Amino acid sequence: MKPLVVGVTGLAAGLGLQCYMFRLLPELYRIKWLCDLDDAKIQRGVADYGGTGTRHFDDLLRDPEVDLVTIATPVATHASLAKKALAAGKHVLLEKPIAATVAEADELIALSKKSKGILCIGHQRRFMANQKVAQDAVNSGDLGRVLSVRLDLPILGVRGSDQPSDPATWTQRFMVTHVYDYIVPPCGSGLPIVAREARSSLRPLRYAEWQ
Ligand SMILES: NC(=O)c1ccc[n+]([C@@H]2O[C@H](COP(=O)([O-])OP(=O)(O)OC[C@H]3O[C@@H](n4cnc5c(N)ncnc54)[C@H](O)[C@@H]3O)[C@@H](O)[C@H]2O)c1
Repeated sequence: MKPLVVGVTGLAAGLGLQCYMFRLLPELYRIKWLCDLDDAKIQRGVADYGGTGTRHFDDLLRDPEVDLVTIATPVATHASLAKKALAAGKHVLLEKPIAATVAEADELIALSKKSKGILCIGHQRRFMANQKVAQDAVNSGDLGRVLSVRLDLPILGVRGSDQPSDPATWTQRFMVTHVYDYIVPPCGSGLPIVAREARSSLRPLRYAEWQ
């Protein structure tokens, strides 16, 4: 099978999460474009992962060779960038959360149903080994009916422009998408979810260490 040609957008988490994985799977993915608004991040990305750097998202969309556009930019930009990429006929891997509002999310989902490309949201943690252990334990019935779940999710240091603690934005809720996604697939959506944030004093890990 020919590898999918990828244009990566947003080179913070995009480098650590996405490029790192694409490089591990060269038979499936070839990084062609690296897009960010920050020249230093572009230079670092190109040095580490190859491809052509650009500040212009449209360069990825105009390139007929690009199959997949990935988006790891601040949440407020998710819907507009993803809509453009779907409209250009590309597959889209959009980092969680899908959008900043339910209305934007609904609009994106509706567009994706009419589009040539597939829209996929970056809920990759549900495929991790610890999630499978929890899923198997619930499915086997060994735990009986689950009434309550306690999830300790280390927040690996505050990074990124979405994460300072302004509750009026997608800040605190940003990590809650992971919490919700860890709990709902194994336990179903009927459980009340109570979340409490605790700051961890653990040293921040590199993405490569905790994948
Ligand atoms: N799935 C996961 O485990 C996981 C982990 C971390 C972050 N994320 C997601 O990744 C996204 C980014 O998070 P982050 O921590 O890297 O944020 P960040 O703010 O550190 O980085 C975002 C990057 O996007 C660039 N950018 C902003 N607007 C752009 C545009 N229009 N075109 C091109 N580049 C643009 C910025 O210059 C910056 O380099 C968020 O949606 C976050 O939820 C997911």
